[in-house]
Amino acid sequence: MSTKRIISKVGEILETHINKSKRKETPSLNQVNPITIAKKLKLKEYLKNGFQKTDEIYNFIKTYLKNTNHLHHPHYMGHQVPAPHDLGGISELINGTVNNPSSLYEMGPSGSTCEGFMINWMLDKIGWLKDKDYYDFKFKPGKPSGFLTHGGSIANLSALIAARSFIDAEAWDNGNSSDIVVIGSKSAHYSILRSLSILGYGRKSFIPIPVDKNEVLDFNQLEAIYQNLKSKGKKVMCLVANACATSTGLFDPLDKMGEFCNKNKIWFHVDGAHGASVLVSKTNNTLIKGIEKADSIVWDAHKMMKVPALCTAVIFKDFMHQENALQQKGSYVFHNNDKIIGMDSMPYTIECTKTALGTKLFWALAIEGEEKMGKYIDYCIGLSKNFHKILLKEKDFETPYIPESNILCFRYIKFSKENDFQLNLRYKLINNNNFYITSCEMNKIRYLRVVFLNQLTKSSHLKDLILEIKKTAKILANK
Ligand SMILES: Cc1ncc(COP(=O)(O)O)c(C=O)c1O
Repeated sequence: MSTKRIISKVGEILETHINKSKRKETPSLNQVNPITIAKKLKLKEYLKNGFQKTDEIYNFIKTYLKNTNHLHHPHYMGHQVPAPHDLGGISELINGTVNNPSSLYEMGPSGSTCEGFMINWMLDKIGWLKDKDYYDFKFKPGKPSGFLTHGGSIANLSALIAARSFIDAEAWDNGNSSDIVVIGSKSAHYSILRSLSILGYGRKSFIPIPVDKNEVLDFNQLEAIYQNLKSKGKKVMCLVANACATSTGLFDPLDKMGEFCNKNKIWFHVDGAHGASVLVSKTNNTLIKGIEKADSIVWDAHKMMKVPALCTAVIFKDFMHQENALQQKGSYVFHNNDKIIGMDSMPYTIECTKTALGTKLFWALAIEGEEKMGKYIDYCIGLSKNFHKILLKEKDFETPYIPESNILCFRYIKFSKENDFQLNLRYKLINNNNFYITSCEMNKIRYLRVVFLNQLTKSSHLKDLILEIKKTAKILANK
C-alpha cells in the first residue's frame, strides 16, 4: 500500500465530501443508531483482519463521512465548533504521521516552536507582549506566558489550579483550606463548577453572582456579596468572568470586573473560551475590553478561529503563576539544566503528552492570513445580528436580546411557550436532516439557539430556517 497514493485518494474523497456538503447535496446531519453505523463500517471485520485492499480503506472512509455531522453545510448552525478551512486538517495529517507531541521540546522542536510562537501572538492580541518579539521563547518571572492544552474545560481547571497556588501555596502538599470560595456569574460554564469539585473544594464553593434577565453578571451586586463573604471569614480565590456566556454569547462587564479585582487584589479569571477570538477582529475586539486586566485567560482557538477541535490557550499575566501552579515533578522529563535547547510546556500542563497544538492554530491562520480570520469572525457575528433583525419582523418568534457575538437564542411561540415544546421542536427539526441547531435554557426559559461558524451560511439560509421551524412546529403541534 503506497502512502502517497492513499493520502492522495483520501484527499480526493474528502474534497468531494466537503464540496457536496457546501452545495447542500448531503443532509446537514443524518443520525442513525450506532449499531447500524458499526455494521456499515464493518468495524468487527476490519479489527480482526485489517484492511486487505485499498478499496476497503476508501469504502470505509466514504461510509464514515456519510455518518458525520456536515459542518460545511450552510445549514450547520449548531454547537461552538467551526466549519474548518478545507485544508484545516493538514496539521493533523502531519502530526499524525510524524507523531511529535509538543510538550517536550526535544520530542517535537517544530511543534513546540509553533506553540511558543502562537502563544506570543495571543499575548500580543491581548496587549501584553510589550516588546512585540514573537521569537522570544524564554519564560521569565514577571513576563506574561501561556501554554496550549486540550480544550476549555481542562484550561479552566488549569487556571483555577494556578489561582489556588497563588492564594494558598500550601494546598498542594497539605490539601485545601475550607475558607476558600470562587465568585462569578451564575451562568459560568459548567467546567468552572466541575473544576472546583475536581479540586476538592466542592461545587458549593462557587458563589454565584446574580445575573440580569439576559444572564449577564449584575455588577451592582458584586461589592455587597464580596463584603459579606469577607465578613464571614471567606477568602475569594478568584472572580470568573464570562467572555462570552456559552448559552447567550453575551459578555460580562469585564472592564469593571477587572477594576474591582485590581482594587481588591483578587485573581481575575476571564473565561474567553468562546469569545477571546474577537481580539483578532479589527471591529469587534472592543467587545472584550478589560481582558487585559485578567490574571488568567482561557482562549479556545477551536471555536471562532476555524481550528479543528481541540486547541486552547491558558494564559497568565505573570509567568510565576504558571510556574507555581503544578508542583509534581517527574525525574524522567523535568530536568532543570542549561542543556535544554528549547522550552518544555510539560511542567505546566495537566497532560503529560499532548499533540502539536500550536501547529493547528498556526495552519488555521496561515492558510488565509490573519486579516481574513478577523473578517470571518466579523462575518459570523454579522450573521447573528442579521438573524436577530429578521426575527424581530416575524410575528411568532421571540428573541430576548440583541446579540453581541455569533450566538443567538430565540423561540417560536405560535403553538406553545412550554419549554418542552421548544426542546421537542429542536429535535424534530434536526431529525428532518435539513438544519442543525441547538437549544439552551436562559433564566429557566428554553430557547432554540444558533451559533454561526460557517462562512457559507447566508441570509437566504436564515429565512429558510424560519420556514423550516414554522413547518416543523405545525406538525409537532398537530395543526
Ligand atoms: C465559556 C466557555 N467556557 C468553557 C467551555 C469549554 O470548552 P471546551 O468545549 O473546549 O472544553 C465552553 C464551551 O462551550 C465555553 O463556552
